[in-house]
Amino acid sequence: MTKWTPSSWRDKPAKHIPTDYPDVAELSDVETTLKGYPPLVFAGEARRLKQRLGQVAMGKSFLLQGGDCAESFKEFHPDNLRDMFRVMMQMAVVLTYGAGQPVVKVGRIAGQFGKPRSSPVEVRDGVELPSYRGDNINGMEFSPESRIPDPQRLLKAYGQSAATMNLLRAFATGGYANLRNIHQWTLGYVDGSPQTKKYKELCEKIEEALNFMEACGVTPESTPQMSATDYYTSHEGLLLGYEEAMTRIDSTTGRWYDTSAHMLWIGNRTRQLDHAHVEFMRGIENPIAMKIGEGLEPDELMKLLDVLNPENEAGKITLIARYGHDKVAQHLPTLARAIKRAGRHVVWSCDPMHGNTIKTDSGYKTRPFDNIMTEVSRFMQVLHSEGCWPGGVHFEMTGQNVTECLGGSARAVREEDLSSRYHTHCDPRLNADQALELAFLIAEELGSYRKEEGARLTA
Ligand code: PEP
Ligand code: CO
Repeated sequence: MTKWTPSSWRDKPAKHIPTDYPDVAELSDVETTLKGYPPLVFAGEARRLKQRLGQVAMGKSFLLQGGDCAESFKEFHPDNLRDMFRVMMQMAVVLTYGAGQPVVKVGRIAGQFGKPRSSPVEVRDGVELPSYRGDNINGMEFSPESRIPDPQRLLKAYGQSAATMNLLRAFATGGYANLRNIHQWTLGYVDGSPQTKKYKELCEKIEEALNFMEACGVTPESTPQMSATDYYTSHEGLLLGYEEAMTRIDSTTGRWYDTSAHMLWIGNRTRQLDHAHVEFMRGIENPIAMKIGEGLEPDELMKLLDVLNPENEAGKITLIARYGHDKVAQHLPTLARAIKRAGRHVVWSCDPMHGNTIKTDSGYKTRPFDNIMTEVSRFMQVLHSEGCWPGGVHFEMTGQNVTECLGGSARAVREEDLSSRYHTHCDPRLNADQALELAFLIAEELGSYRKEEGARLTA
């Protein structure tokens, strides 16, 4: 294999990285500026996440990864960040309690801007323009000026990521995440929904347990795990110029870490073995995820794992399956068998969003809640019957009361509702109610798998 450097990807073919910046020298100046900016995460934090994912790979923990399809400059607001953080905390409580396992929380946040698009152009009323590619590249407004890639957007995205990271750290460790506050994590707008009622009942049980523990001398003051939480960040490592600029040598280990996020993932459209994205990812020490979908054969998957995780380190690789509810049961078993046969350590996670996107007659991209849940269930069934641990989920979601995905039992979103609060900059997201409902459904299924497993072990 050729020598890896943070820039060795530049010698390989690259998909979905814009090549039409009008001023290439300006892009290069921006990248140089970024190289001098502080890291957004520390290598030690990425190592800790890798360890925690190692526990997931071993079936001892569960991964909850979620956030916007695309962060945007427009929706950047502390309230939005708080709402996302708290709905993930609620989901984590539900999953921890239901599955009886620790939950590793990873946001699609603080850097999730650049988007691969299925078409390089967008046509509206006979007018054709380059597609919107994420706020760190060009603008969403449908005008020729706005669609021109602008390098300055990378600096703005860095600034927004830094401020986001700062607030997330404060939420995670500054008191908000104290388990004594679980009642306060409910969102105003979902008050009165069946999910909120269920969540409140769960909080009461947890409070009773906390009171008991406190009487035994275990308090948030004495036990830091009760007063703070670990919250990690991730995004698709798409714009490799940006990722290269954020990649630094860790002074403790002398190894390279991409300090733009704790975890990076390779998208379904950029995971070619001999292309730039795989080349870049193979050299960094961060935990890496890879989206897998239709068309990926076991042979190729094994080759990718040889390149990305030659030492078969547990926690290094998360495979995020994104097939669609009607395809996952057909494609996943052969891959799961191949991985198991080869003794490869991976985290198996399910993205039930990207294979379930449909377009309504009125032109909205949406995803039906029932299909999303069906894909998660089938994913779990397949892995369980292949003797693998269905270790995680990956959602596009928001804490806002949006109407982007159809269905959900609390306040079912109907087709005619989609237009009322459809705010996403790219794909349709679950709203907080839908996300919490999914967490309850998944916790139930996970709990039953764990009971079965317990019965098998004691038989
Ligand atoms: C995404 O996660 O937003 C995405 C583009 O997914 P995929 O690579 O699986 O299509
Ligand atoms: Co998406």
